[in-house]
Amino acid sequence: MAYLKAANISKSFGGVHAVQNVSIEVPENSIFALIGPNGAGKSTLLNLLSGIYQPDAGQLVFQEQNLIGLPAYRRARLGLARTFQKIRLFRQLTLLENVRAGFHIHQSEPFWKHLALGSVGRFDAEARELLDFVGLGSRANERAGALPYGKQRLLEIARALATRPRLFMLDEPAAGLNASEVDFLLDRLTEIGRRGITVVVVEHNMDLVMNVAHRVFVMDHGEALFEGTPREVQDNPRVIEAYLGGEFAA
Ligand SMILES: Nc1ncnc2c1ncn2[C@@H]1O[C@H](COP(=O)(O)OP(=O)(O)OP(=O)(O)O)[C@@H](O)[C@H]1O
Ligand SMILES: [Mg+2]
Repeated sequence: MAYLKAANISKSFGGVHAVQNVSIEVPENSIFALIGPNGAGKSTLLNLLSGIYQPDAGQLVFQEQNLIGLPAYRRARLGLARTFQKIRLFRQLTLLENVRAGFHIHQSEPFWKHLALGSVGRFDAEARELLDFVGLGSRANERAGALPYGKQRLLEIARALATRPRLFMLDEPAAGLNASEVDFLLDRLTEIGRRGITVVVVEHNMDLVMNVAHRVFVMDHGEALFEGTPREVQDNPRVIEAYLGGEFAA
């Protein structure tokens, strides 16, 4: 049974059909990749799943719970976390403070109070573990904005993990990373999956997708083009024509 299920969801912006009648079923404990050319609708689909946008039509169900109408923060409390294509960090705050901010959803007090007074300390051991997990433990007190780009992406992952997600969505986590950073990311995503967190990842880096994903869903022009295992996707003539080009052609 699907853990996360979208049935026939659509979203338009003016005349642009960003997502058209798309259905996906993400199994629990799987790593599910969303791929496709620029403008295919991948980020829009992620925004629909995480509650940044509400769909014009269709159903969305997570663990048998209807998500339609629920704003992003309510979905976060259900265990949905995400990172953004364009990095969103508190640049003036330290790495540790950024991760602390992620724990906010486990608290009842207002966000500013959580940051300022911090219920500081209460989550710090876990926050430091998360920084270690993404290889940034030794830089806990540096300012997030001063980190190199690739490391900022890793910090965003640590902060999202602080919400203790059950389903983790990432929008192009490998964008701007060098080869060794991509290898590290691949290893971390695999480990996140091993820890029982279901992963949905939008990515253009095919080495990452083909090595990490159990299922791959291909979009083109807002529509579903194909779904299968990494092998099936690499071998599919329509996917090769629309997106992969010569890269994986025999
Ligand atoms: N907020 C918005 N307002 C208007 N149009 C939008 C909005 N968000 C997305 N679109 C349009 O919807 C279509 C799908 O965009 P989307 O960002 O989902 O693509 P994508 O697959 O993530 O592309 P990329 O690989 O470049 O990130 C594009 O034509 C885009 O211009
Ligand atoms: Mg995108």
